[in-house]
Amino acid sequence: MIENSSVHKLQIIKPDDWHLHLRSGETLKAVLPSTIKWANRAIIMPNLDPPIVNIDDVKNYFQEIKRNIPSGVNFDPLMTLYLTETTKIKDILEGYKSGIVKAIKYYPSGATTNSAKGVKNIKNVYKVFDVLSKIGMPLLIHGEVTSENIDIFDREKVFIEQILDPLRNKFPDLKIVFEHITTTDAIDYILNSEKNLAATITPHHLIINRNSMLVGGIKPDFYCLPLAKREKHRLALVKIATSGSEKFFLGTDSAPHLEQNKISECGCAGIFNALNAIPCLAQVFDNENLLNNLEKFVSLNGPKFYDLPVNKSKINIVKYNKSQNFLKFINTSEGRIRVFNPNLKIYWNYT
Ligand code: DOR
Ligand code: ZN
Repeated sequence: MIENSSVHKLQIIKPDDWHLHLRSGETLKAVLPSTIKWANRAIIMPNLDPPIVNIDDVKNYFQEIKRNIPSGVNFDPLMTLYLTETTKIKDILEGYKSGIVKAIKYYPSGATTNSAKGVKNIKNVYKVFDVLSKIGMPLLIHGEVTSENIDIFDREKVFIEQILDPLRNKFPDLKIVFEHITTTDAIDYILNSEKNLAATITPHHLIINRNSMLVGGIKPDFYCLPLAKREKHRLALVKIATSGSEKFFLGTDSAPHLEQNKISECGCAGIFNALNAIPCLAQVFDNENLLNNLEKFVSLNGPKFYDLPVNKSKINIVKYNKSQNFLKFINTSEGRIRVFNPNLKIYWNYT
C-alpha cells in the first residue's frame, strides 16, 4: 500500500471565489458544499433561468442560498444583478444601499448560457454605466462578441477592440472586472490599463488548452465559454496568475450542468471545478515554484479590487507524496454533475 503521507503543509488566508455559478434548487444543494469548504465569499452569477434581473429576484435568490448554508458555517454570497436593456436604476440603487448587490453582470446577448436577455446594443445601458461609475459598483463583463462573422476563438480579442476599449474611454471611472480571461490580448490590455480594470482567471484555463478538448476525440467536459485557446495563451495566463500581480484574481467560473445536458447533441458550456479548485491551483503555482504567490491570487487581490476586507480565517492545504483522486461526479436528485478532471497530477489537497 502506498501511504498518503503529507510532504508539505501550507496555511493561507481563506480564499474567495470572485465568479461562481451556484444555480438553484437541487443543483444548488448539491454544489454549494464544494465551495463553502474553502471559500469565505463568492460573487454569485445571475444567469439562472429565468435570470436574476431585479431586486426581488436578488433577495429571493440570496435567501435560497442562505437557507442551504449549514448553521455555524460562515459563507457570504455576494449577489449580482443581470444587466438587461430594461434594468431599472432604482433596483441598482436599492441593491447598493441595502448592501445585497455587489456588482452588475454584463452578458452580451447570446454569448453564453442563459444570456439571451443580455445586452444587444450597449448604448441602451449607458445610463446604468453612469450610475455605476458614480457609486463605484463594479461591472462584471463576459468579454466576447457574438457577431456571426467573428471566429469563436477570436471573440475575446475582438471584444476588447470593439467594445471594451471604447467603453473604458467613455466611462473612465467605471470599475470593470474582465471575467475569465483566456488570451494574451486580454492580459496585455489589462497590464496596459492605468486603473479601474482587473480580471478573473479560472483554474481550468490555467490547465487546459484547446487541444485538451479536441485532440483524440471531443471532450465535452472541457467545453466552456470562453473556449480554452492555444497553448501560448495558457502559458501566458499561468505566468500572470502566478506572478502575484494585483490586477488578476481567482474566479472559478465553476458552472455545473447535469451530465445529460452536457454530454448531448448540443452540450452546455461549463466546467464544475469548485470541488478541486484550490488543489488544482496549488499544483499550478507549485509547478511554477511560485507557491508564495498563491495567497495573493486566491485571497488578497480580489478583496483589494472590490474594496472589501481580507478574510480573517485561514485554511490549510497539504501536498501529499501521492497524486490525489477527487470525486468524479457529484449526485443530484436530477442526475450527476461531472467534476473537472484535469490531465495533470495533483498532489495537493485539503487537510
Ligand atoms: O462555460 C461557461 N458556463 N461560461 C459561461 O460564461 C457561463 C457558464 C454557465 O453558466 O454555464
Ligand atoms: Zn461564468
